[in-house]
Amino acid sequence: MPRPLVLTLRKDLSRTLRQGHPWVFREAVTEPRGMAAGALVTVADRRGREIAFGYYDDAGPIAVRVLALAPVADRAALLRERLRAALATRRAHLDLTMTNAFRWVHGEADRLPGIHVDVYADVVSVRYDGEGSRAFYRDLPALIRASAGELTVRKVIDREARAGRGEEVEVRENGALFIVDVGRGQKGGLFLDQRENRQTVAQRAAGKSLLNLFGYTGGFSLHAARAGATRTDTVDIARPAIAAARRNFERNGLALGQAGFHAEDVFAFLEKAIARGQVWDIVVSDPPSFAPSKNSLSAARRSYLRLHRLAAQVVSRGGLLAAASCSSHVTRGEFLTMVKTGVDLAGRRFVLESYTGASPDHPILPVFPEGDYLKFALGRVE
Ligand SMILES: C[S@@+](CC[C@H](N)C(=O)[O-])C[C@H]1O[C@@H](n2cnc3c(N)ncnc32)[C@H](O)[C@@H]1O
Repeated sequence: MPRPLVLTLRKDLSRTLRQGHPWVFREAVTEPRGMAAGALVTVADRRGREIAFGYYDDAGPIAVRVLALAPVADRAALLRERLRAALATRRAHLDLTMTNAFRWVHGEADRLPGIHVDVYADVVSVRYDGEGSRAFYRDLPALIRASAGELTVRKVIDREARAGRGEEVEVRENGALFIVDVGRGQKGGLFLDQRENRQTVAQRAAGKSLLNLFGYTGGFSLHAARAGATRTDTVDIARPAIAAARRNFERNGLALGQAGFHAEDVFAFLEKAIARGQVWDIVVSDPPSFAPSKNSLSAARRSYLRLHRLAAQVVSRGGLLAAASCSSHVTRGEFLTMVKTGVDLAGRRFVLESYTGASPDHPILPVFPEGDYLKFALGRVE
């Protein structure tokens, strides 16, 4: 086997890398010529000491995604072992008879940097973080099949390559049925990271009304209705998502009489509901990332404040507001302040009851805060 090419650190990142940070930014290394995207490489310090081993990407800000601190002798064996280990951790907390849609591999945190692998019943959907990842994991479908154990894998699809070509698969999430479009759906089909939070809300929903803002295919509403909510309203700007939400209700045999499906802008919906004096016992707000980059942070702050101010006005006295943010640029502390301040602006008071993140199949490396993106604050609005 040819020796991997060496990239030399320009900055002293050896400590961070030894602590397990999985990325080496392009600005931090000198790159020799002639390296191919996806090639195994060695990262060394200026004195030539080998610090980390990973694969190379010739595009984007990340030059190397780190695989190990020791040389990688057998790439395929390493990947198989990590795929199996990641699946074992999911099997330890998921009952596959009740839930067969989950994240098998959460990239960096599962030591398989540059990929996200989601299971939707017998379809496995992969997202590659660029061409370097696609080249390094070139035989991933075969490795996935070889590591699947008792999982039935009918198909392994490349999410980006299929964009626009849909395929419907029926999945279970904690016993509820969802029809998922694995080719065209957002985030690969379902927002799997909110699974536990949907359960938490459902546990509070019996005998209550629920408003699901940015509701996508109805996840929060559907679980609440199954748990005995008296009424649910699902709002999303995407018509196909709202149509899918209605179909999901039908598929689960839920009465449509007490379920509203609204294909419209959340802010416009809230302004109208406030003008009518409408309130719900539970309001869930799960917007798309308002801060996709650091530059958009101040605009994002304004949007979150406005959203929380409007949402608080439609929560019944002492009712619940569940506010989420999926932007990694907004810190946990900052987001909580934005929930509290938004509710204050509505002349109400927010009392936090729980503050969670993504489901356990989306683990986080403490040295890699970039991976800690989802925030979910649930509290009373007094
Ligand atoms: C993070 S997803 C919500 C996931 C959902 N809570 C679930 O559990 O499946 C955000 C959703 O917001 C919708 N959306 C984006 N902008 C919107 C707007 N201005 N008004 C209403 N919906 C919007 C998107 O179509 C998307 O479905």
